Amino acid sequence: MTRLHPINLLVTGGCGFIGSNFVRYWMRQHPESKVVVYDKLTYAGRKENLADLWDSPNLSLVVGDIGDMDAVRRACQDNAIDLIVNFAAETHVDQSILGPLVFTDTNVRGTHVLLEVARELSIRLHHISTDEVYGHIRDDHQSVETDELAPRSPYAASKAAADQLVQAYAITYGIPVTITRGANNVGPYQYPEKAVPLFSTNAILNEPIPVYGDGLQMRDYAHVHDHCTGIETVLLRGIIGEVYNVGTGREMTNLEMVDIVLDTLDKDHALVKHVTDRPGHDRRYSMNVDKLRALGWQPQYDPKQAVAEAARWYAENRTWWEPIRSGEFREYYEKQYAERLAGAGQ
Ligand code: NAD
Ligand code: DAU
Repeated sequence: MTRLHPINLLVTGGCGFIGSNFVRYWMRQHPESKVVVYDKLTYAGRKENLADLWDSPNLSLVVGDIGDMDAVRRACQDNAIDLIVNFAAETHVDQSILGPLVFTDTNVRGTHVLLEVARELSIRLHHISTDEVYGHIRDDHQSVETDELAPRSPYAASKAAADQLVQAYAITYGIPVTITRGANNVGPYQYPEKAVPLFSTNAILNEPIPVYGDGLQMRDYAHVHDHCTGIETVLLRGIIGEVYNVGTGREMTNLEMVDIVLDTLDKDHALVKHVTDRPGHDRRYSMNVDKLRALGWQPQYDPKQAVAEAARWYAENRTWWEPIRSGEFREYYEKQYAERLAGAGQ
């Protein structure tokens, strides 16, 4: 694997699901690199996601908001940062339907602030975008990087705006940027509001599995490890200014995903309850990942293995999620599911 020169990274959102997996992976692969995690520690950001690494002299934490320009600038200057990797975001579609404004604050304005600091200090910025920016994809197509963006939820719209700001800064100011658009990730340390950890932990607790609508929506459930190697590939060999899709290129329905979770955990399929659908629910995401493959990357997991392995992780790591599920999560769960489950069908 090619190496960058010893490099100082600012990883925003590094205490979240993908960010913490990326930090762990990157530090193992690049022991010469220094990593500063810059994170607001929202409900989704947990310092304990990196508990095994905080003793390392190569890792430090700055608690801050990406919308705070002075704090971001200071973190970059104090640590001689030469690359920002931006994972920081509000990330859950359902939360964006319940309370959308913070999505604009963090995902749009926050990314804009990072771009301003990157411009001022001549720092490369890698931005983590999502397959949701392409919107619903018809059955005979897979999204390619040049497709028009057509987001349909407040979350997706905020991510599309950020993605376009990053591209606009590259064109207007010539700052060095790259973008990856990830598929639906699964794996360790994913906050249990998201479907695979929610369904896994509910199944372990013998609680109902709330499937939205008919459950025939299609997603590319990709293992977070493959997202991390995809980002690393783009950091090391990607062309500056370019966008790369990262996924497996293969989708399954949500009902197939649920079957894998329940079979892996050896649980009764009668736990499945069909509940009122998510408003504006995109039916299908599907990405073509040939451009990233052309850089020599390939995924290690197929989606079935990824979902099964994730479900097993939640069975083996109850001490990670039990405290989360007993806290403020309960309030969200009630708001999101109590009425839906009361009116649920099999
Ligand atoms: P997550 O919700 O688990 O973590 C988000 C992290 O960002 C948390 O640590 C949180 O504290 C931090 N954060 C939130 N607002 C912040 C702010 N204003 N300033 C600083 N830090 C802030 O999210 P995730 O699932 O790990 O997603 C990470 C990134 O990847 C996001 O940009 C998301 O849009 C993108 N993405 C996620 C997926 C997925 O399936 N999870 C797929 C494709 C792309
Ligand atoms: O596709 C990439 C996106 O994947 C990322 O950009 C987001 O950050 C990430 O959160 C995820 O998007 P969603 O927020 O839609 O993921 P979620 O796990 O909530 O939903 C996955 C699918 O499962 C979706 O079709 C909705 C469905 N679902 C979800 C929940 C929470 C249900 O059927 N029932 C549920 O209770």
